[in-house]
Amino acid sequence: MAKTTKTEKESSIEVIILAAGLGTRMKSPLPKVLHEVCGSSMLSLLMQSLARSGKKVSRFNVVVGYERQTVIDHVKKFSTTLGVPVIFSVQAEQKGTAHAVQCALDESLKTGIDADIIAVFNGDLPLFTPEAFNDFISAHHVAKSSATMGTTQLADATGYGRVIRKGGKFVGNVEHKDATPAQKKIREINGGVYLFEKETLITALKGVSTKNVQKEFYLPDVFTVAAKKKKKIFAHKFADSALMLGANNMKELAEAQKLLYARTAEKWMIEGVFIHDPSVTYIGPEVQLNREVVIAPFTTISGRSQIASGVKIGSFCNLKSVKIAEKCTIKDGVVADGSVIGAESSVGPFVQFRAGTVIGSHVKVGNFVEVKESSLGDHTAASHLSYIGDAEVGSNVNIGCGFVTCNFDGTVREGRRKHRSKIGNNVFIGSDSQVVAPITIADGTFIASGSTVTDSVNEDDSLVIARTKQVTKLGYAKKYKK
Ligand code: UD1
Ligand code: MG
Repeated sequence: MAKTTKTEKESSIEVIILAAGLGTRMKSPLPKVLHEVCGSSMLSLLMQSLARSGKKVSRFNVVVGYERQTVIDHVKKFSTTLGVPVIFSVQAEQKGTAHAVQCALDESLKTGIDADIIAVFNGDLPLFTPEAFNDFISAHHVAKSSATMGTTQLADATGYGRVIRKGGKFVGNVEHKDATPAQKKIREINGGVYLFEKETLITALKGVSTKNVQKEFYLPDVFTVAAKKKKKIFAHKFADSALMLGANNMKELAEAQKLLYARTAEKWMIEGVFIHDPSVTYIGPEVQLNREVVIAPFTTISGRSQIASGVKIGSFCNLKSVKIAEKCTIKDGVVADGSVIGAESSVGPFVQFRAGTVIGSHVKVGNFVEVKESSLGDHTAASHLSYIGDAEVGSNVNIGCGFVTCNFDGTVREGRRKHRSKIGNNVFIGSDSQVVAPITIADGTFIASGSTVTDSVNEDDSLVIARTKQVTKLGYAKKYKK
């Protein structure tokens, strides 16, 4: 990496993100930059990478156009985590990337641009990294460039803008659709990432025309215009071509996803996580893992999940936005969303934790148990075949096989369709029992198996038997069969 110069440290950067296009090649009504890679939109992956680079990004200016409100609403959902102010510019009609940048500048200049450098990024770059941004800025400074284009070498450059060099010196770009057969053979492509000296960009944009096959204002044309005005233009070639993968269709989106999953798994393996087979394990970019975590094949962990050290996770699990404490065992086939699991608990196989599940430490939840918006205290066990919904279950509770919280009786009370069950500490629930909510079961209650409990138990340590009395008629079976 190039040495950091004084000027580089002092400069702050305004980042324009181009996100106004529909993305025709996606063949989807969803704006292209909102398509997801590893569970996050391309736009959020890019903006988070740039914000995390440690460079002084003074502001993001996101250019929106097609489905603009959808894009704005989406950005607002994660923008508070960026630590950088975000403004939006409207490009009402998509007349090309240079026109999009012009719309952004018009908006930025209303409040003034508190930066020396303007960076422009296509919004469809999900694999660009904070490190690459740092290298790019260093290269721009070292070259004393006024306009720098990020490029890379591709085996198949179809569709991309081609970088034109004369005697090795960068002189401009030609779009695929405008290229001559000879130019189409060039393998160095424009990656859609740019750094400009503020004044150079403002001036050069004015010289861009629509004299091309697509009749659009092309941003890469800024370089030829700037060169004519004797400005120093430079092309920084990135060795890792994955950084520049611009996902324009579903095939490229899948390629980007595969590369990002591989990169993320690699990072965690170096940090001491054992992933049995990273090629079939899917860890999202915002997931936090720790040492001695072990993950079996065909498992997906997504969202802002946090998995503490020593957690063992089986195959075919799907864990989204979960927080799992130290040394838990998550067996095969566990599906969990928005759930918290305390230390040294064991969950699965074949368990579903829906949103709002909070499990204490040393808890055992066994096969075919579903939990929803409920908490289970420390040392509680629900080992087989149960539904626990809208319940607060204390600690040291034994939930027998086939227990059900009957949380819906077809009526809405106090605005709630579902009713809550409160089960105290040290309760024993015999197999094949139900509690009909709303209901409270006091500490130490012993519920006999096969009970349907409809009334609250308010005294501690009560025995509840709520089943029909057994009738045994001696010798009657033979007669009955006849
Ligand atoms: C662009 C570059 C090409 C480069 C490639 C890298 C131009 C003219 N071409 O081509 O040289 O190799 O990226 O991936 O810039 N957008 C707007 N407003 C518009 C048009 C586009 O905001 O009027 C946005 C899109 O939403 C997208 C980005 O700009 O995020 C790039 O547009 P896209 O259509 O993907 O350009 P490419 O054809 O890939
Ligand atoms: Mg593109």
